[in-house]
Amino acid sequence: MTDISGLRAQLLERIASAEMPREVLKANEIKELYATIPSLPPSERGAFGRAVNDLKTELETAIALRETAMENAAITSIDVTAPWDVNGALPELLPTENGTQHPLTREIENVVDIFTRMGFEAIESRQIDDDYHMFGTLNFPENHPARDGYDTFRTEEGFIPPAHTSTMQHRILERGKAQLENGGQIAAISYGRVFRNEDVDATHEHTFYQCEGVFVSPNATLGEMLGTLRSFFEVYYGQKLKTKTQPGYFPFVEPGLEFAIERPATLGGKPGEWLEMLGCGMIHPNVLREAGIDPVKYRGFAWGGGIDRLIMLKYNIEDIRHLESAKLQFLRKFA
Ligand code: PHE
Repeated sequence: MTDISGLRAQLLERIASAEMPREVLKANEIKELYATIPSLPPSERGAFGRAVNDLKTELETAIALRETAMENAAITSIDVTAPWDVNGALPELLPTENGTQHPLTREIENVVDIFTRMGFEAIESRQIDDDYHMFGTLNFPENHPARDGYDTFRTEEGFIPPAHTSTMQHRILERGKAQLENGGQIAAISYGRVFRNEDVDATHEHTFYQCEGVFVSPNATLGEMLGTLRSFFEVYYGQKLKTKTQPGYFPFVEPGLEFAIERPATLGGKPGEWLEMLGCGMIHPNVLREAGIDPVKYRGFAWGGGIDRLIMLKYNIEDIRHLESAKLQFLRKFA
């Protein structure tokens, strides 16, 4: 009778070191074992067949164990956060063992901090919204071409990943209404991720960040708004800045303005180099009315602009795509 136990030890050893352990099952030796069955005396065939079957089951178990062990080893040897060979020398300048804050997170905190100190309450914006908040509450007539400027995505159910943080205006107004009626004012910012159906390049991203401001009081003025914005930019960039405005069209403000700062020499600018930073204006009476605020008694102003752009100017980042890239080489500069 063929020696099964010798073969068993040999095959188990082969499985233990095989790169493709399952291949061992195809070994000729096993086929030969089966092939010998017909030549055995009938009285031995049953026991032998069972022994071969048991061996096969045992090999399969060993294969499964080896495969799991190999998978686990593969997983632990992959560091999903690191594009380099984890077994090689670590690159220089690895910031800290614990990682660091992403520049976007850090700068958003910075922006929120400045406005909070100016008396604005900070509310994170939503990342999924509806047509009513995206357009309806913001005085966009149905089928109006102004909607085209906010081309974003839509879920099959009709929900919208917002194209701007202005989707938060109506909520801020409704929420602050009581405060207003009690003699107070509404002062809030909303910040967060927004989405646009853009062809992506160095200055356009489909996913970016905005910060929105809403202020309402019985006598809010455009002058107050411009002062607030100038203060913000001067604190953020840590220096005096020249600012200017030009008319801009947004259905939810009247008048609407585009607000620009002169790029300072310290940030690589030449005199007369203006950078448009945000859109702003006096809140349209229809927007106040939609939130149940009487536009005869109260006035407000609002602004909204990109945070990525703020950061790019501050740190001289040439390509907006770096911010969402998770490239360590880029991120380490902010460690
Ligand atoms: N939401 C506008 C945009 O993203 C900017 C804006 C906000 C303009 C608030 C006016 C008032 O283009």
